[in-house]
Amino acid sequence: MDIDNKIKELKDNFNSDILLIKSSKIDYNQVYTKYFGRKGLINGLYLYLGKVNNKDKPLIGNKINNLKKELLDQIEIFNKDNSSKNIKQEFDVSLPEISRNFGSIHPLTSVINEIKDIFNKIGFSSIYGPEVDTEYYNFEALNIPEHHPARDMQDTFYIDDELLLRTHTSGSQIHFMEKNNPPIRIISPGRVYRNEDISVRSYCLFHQIEGLYIDKKVTLSDLKGTLNYFAKELFGKNVKTRFRPSFFPFTEPSAEMDVYWGLNNESDYRITKGTGWLEILGCGMVDPEVFKSVNYDPDVWKGFAFGLGIERMAMLLYGIDDIRKFYEGDIRFLRQF
Ligand code: DAH
Repeated sequence: MDIDNKIKELKDNFNSDILLIKSSKIDYNQVYTKYFGRKGLINGLYLYLGKVNNKDKPLIGNKINNLKKELLDQIEIFNKDNSSKNIKQEFDVSLPEISRNFGSIHPLTSVINEIKDIFNKIGFSSIYGPEVDTEYYNFEALNIPEHHPARDMQDTFYIDDELLLRTHTSGSQIHFMEKNNPPIRIISPGRVYRNEDISVRSYCLFHQIEGLYIDKKVTLSDLKGTLNYFAKELFGKNVKTRFRPSFFPFTEPSAEMDVYWGLNNESDYRITKGTGWLEILGCGMVDPEVFKSVNYDPDVWKGFAFGLGIERMAMLLYGIDDIRKFYEGDIRFLRQF
C-alpha cells in the first residue's frame, strides 16, 4: 500500500474514532494513545519512513508531518467544543441572581462619622476609652470626689465595688493624658450608660463625643471659636448659637452651648420647651485639678474640653421624636437611613 492510501485510511479511522468518543462509545484517552502514543499509528508511519529509499524520504516525511498536524488540530478543536459544553452544563447564565439585602448605616453611626469628620478636618484625632472603667477614671480624676453631689447627676451602673459602666466619655481624657504629653487635640466618641428611667427622652445607654484641646496658650475664645465652627458645619452656616454659664467639676469656667432651633411647629415647642433654644453640649476650660491628676503643670498647660450628646443631635437632624427608636433594631425604622 502506498503512503497516500495509508494516510487516507488512517484519517478515516481517526474520524470515526472521534465520532465514537462523541457518542461515548470509546474513551478519549484510548483514542489519543492509539494515534499519538509512543507505539501509536503516527509513530508507526515514522518507522515506515525509515524504510523508504532516501530520495522519497523528504516528500513522504512531509506528508506524515502534515497528517500529524492535521489530526492534532482536530483533537484540539474537539477538546474546545467539549469543554465549552461542560461549562454550559455547570453554569446556566440565564438563571436569575440570588438577591441580597444590604444593611444601612445606623443613624447614630452616621452622625458620629459626620462629627468625627468635622473635627478631624481641624486636626483633632479620634481616640477611644474603655466602657467598663473604674471610679477613679470616671469620677475622681475628673475632680468628682466621693460624696460629691455631681455623682448623683449621673446614676451609675456598678459592676462591683471598683468597676462601673462609664457614665460619660470624659474619663477617656484622663486615660489619654496619662499616656501622652501635650499638646493634645483629640475627640473620643463612644457609648455611655446611666441608670435612668427609660422614656421618650432618656435611655439607659447613649452616645457622647468628648473633645480635649491642650496647649500653652488656649483661651475661652478658642473654645467658642471651635464650637461655633462645629455647629456651622453640622447645622449649616446660618445656625445661631449661645453659651450659658454652667457647672462641671472638671472645667472652670464651664458653659453649655445651645443652638437656636426655632418655634415653627408644635414639636419645636415641645423639644425646646417653648424657648426655641436647645442645649447640645457641655464645655469649659480644663480645671487645674484635672491637670494635677495626670501630672501636667497647670501653670504651663491650658486647655478646653467639651462633651456632646449624639442622640439629641441625631434626633434634631433626622426629626426623630423618640430616643428608644435608635435601640429597637426595627428595620422599618433603620431602612429609612
Ligand atoms: N461629661 C459631661 C456629661 O456627661 C459633659 C461634659 C461637660 C464634658 C463639660 C466635658 C465638659 O468635657 O468640659 O454631662
